[in-house]
Amino acid sequence: CNDSQSSLSVNCLDRHVHTAPNKVALIWEKDEPGKEVRVTYRELLELTCRLGNTLKRQGVKRGDRVTIYMPPCPLAVASMLACARIGAVHTVVFAGFSSEALADRIRDGKRLLQTDRGGKVIELKQTVDQAVRACPLVKRVLVSMRTEQKVPMSELHEMMKEDVCCEPAVMESEDLLFLLYTSGSTGKPKGLVHSQAGYLLYTAITHKYVFDYHDGDIFGCVADIGWITGHSYVVYGPLCNGGTTVLFESTPVYPNPVERLRINQFYGAPTAIRLLLRYGDEWVKRYDRSSLKTLGSVGEPINTEAWEWYFNVVGDARCPVVDTWWQTETGGICISPRPSSPGDEILPGMAMRPFFGISPALLDDKGNILTQNNVSGALCISQAWPGMARTIYNDHKRFLETYLMPYPGFFFTGDGAYRTSQGYYQLTGRLDDVINVSGHRLGTAELEDIVHRAVAESAVIGFPHEIKGEGAYVFIVLKKGTDVSQERLSNELKELVSKKIHGGSPFPTRLPKTRSGKIMRRVLKKIVEDKADELGDLTTLDDHEAVEEIIEGHKRLL
Ligand code: WTA
Repeated sequence: CNDSQSSLSVNCLDRHVHTAPNKVALIWEKDEPGKEVRVTYRELLELTCRLGNTLKRQGVKRGDRVTIYMPPCPLAVASMLACARIGAVHTVVFAGFSSEALADRIRDGKRLLQTDRGGKVIELKQTVDQAVRACPLVKRVLVSMRTEQKVPMSELHEMMKEDVCCEPAVMESEDLLFLLYTSGSTGKPKGLVHSQAGYLLYTAITHKYVFDYHDGDIFGCVADIGWITGHSYVVYGPLCNGGTTVLFESTPVYPNPVERLRINQFYGAPTAIRLLLRYGDEWVKRYDRSSLKTLGSVGEPINTEAWEWYFNVVGDARCPVVDTWWQTETGGICISPRPSSPGDEILPGMAMRPFFGISPALLDDKGNILTQNNVSGALCISQAWPGMARTIYNDHKRFLETYLMPYPGFFFTGDGAYRTSQGYYQLTGRLDDVINVSGHRLGTAELEDIVHRAVAESAVIGFPHEIKGEGAYVFIVLKKGTDVSQERLSNELKELVSKKIHGGSPFPTRLPKTRSGKIMRRVLKKIVEDKADELGDLTTLDDHEAVEEIIEGHKRLL
């Protein structure tokens, strides 16, 4: 194949095949532990080229959008790289999403690529069929066979007949690389757009300096490729650096793969750390963790207790812990300790310092910049950086309104932060109606949007949850005359939001609103946090009885 400096797949594959063709690019830790599969750079390039040729044969052209609905596996990674190779734009959808969520995310797309999964057999194909019925623009569905089960359609396995060379498309640095959907505070999920060169540069450089990654290290990031963390730190960053990256098919039993695969950098979400902590130290200490060099945390605030345990027990007080703050919008890590700079202090539970080129600013609600230390404010970024999302697909106006207009001259992150007296940054949580459950963003609007024949109105709020960081609490008002048992309705609704509802309160007859009709979520939040005596200013509340009814209902639940 010919080289082309402006091809992302050349940077992630061909470049390394020239220097170390037999180096392992991917270690696929399958659902069946101990049966990991290793894929070399040469094999990954060949698979990518075959897939690229398959896509071209199916009529996929430069600029076309391809939805990938697969669990983490080499074929999924090769599919992303194959899109990049032929200049198509990929959208990976988390394989745990329902057909409705999938349909929402492929409506913009034209073609769809999908696989079934082994281990626990999950019927992805059925979900895809349902989703595609709602998306008339989809032209083609490709299916890969991973199970012995009969799935009615198979085309991807035909690709093994394709040529192992596929000329890389020469791309402009600002051409689209991928769309990734993420929840916002209002409306449907937003398809954030990332472009070629800046994104790749930013993921590669942050991967190297934040984790202190060196040639020959084995990098283990436990994120699904359906999230930005999987895109940036399972696939693009490590592969651009010629690294060996572990693909976890499902949530692993952590200490075991660390010992077996000799993982050097481990990167995961605090939820999992909090869960492990409960099992006690012995369970972790049974395994050899001497390969570990850096421990990373991402997706949600890490509380001091979990941080200390991660550092002292998992890392034997030997490995720096990097609490990395960033977002789908930022493309890569923006605020984090950098163990690659020796001597830099790292304090527990803090993202600490901006990465090279990032200039954070804290603003008050009047839009004034807070220049002093020891202050809290809205976290903004005051100049562009290579990895930032360029727009929201098909909705640039929404991009401007969400990120650039709230604080003119700044990129607004949606998060709040505190700057300590020493000038370090500590994240304090979302300022909008986004809930962070186990490091995954959920828009309250998305949950409230669930349509059910018995539901007249609902309000969703986040509340502190010991393991998940935050849980989603749903208040539901039933339509008049609904004659269904509470238990049955509760079960149906829980199913509807794919297990995202934490509890179910007895259904109130109405929600507390302002006189202008806005649901007063802050009041609901206090009730759920058992702080009904601190409801704050209720002068705009329309109907006080609505609040009392909900307080009573909540008490009954406890
Ligand atoms: C939150 C995941 C505290 C934050 C990479 C952000 C964090 C949202 C941290 C982005 C952290 C992420 N400490 N909060 N280290 N990292 N967050 O788009 O609210 O899935 O805005 O990207 O997660 O979530 P997203």
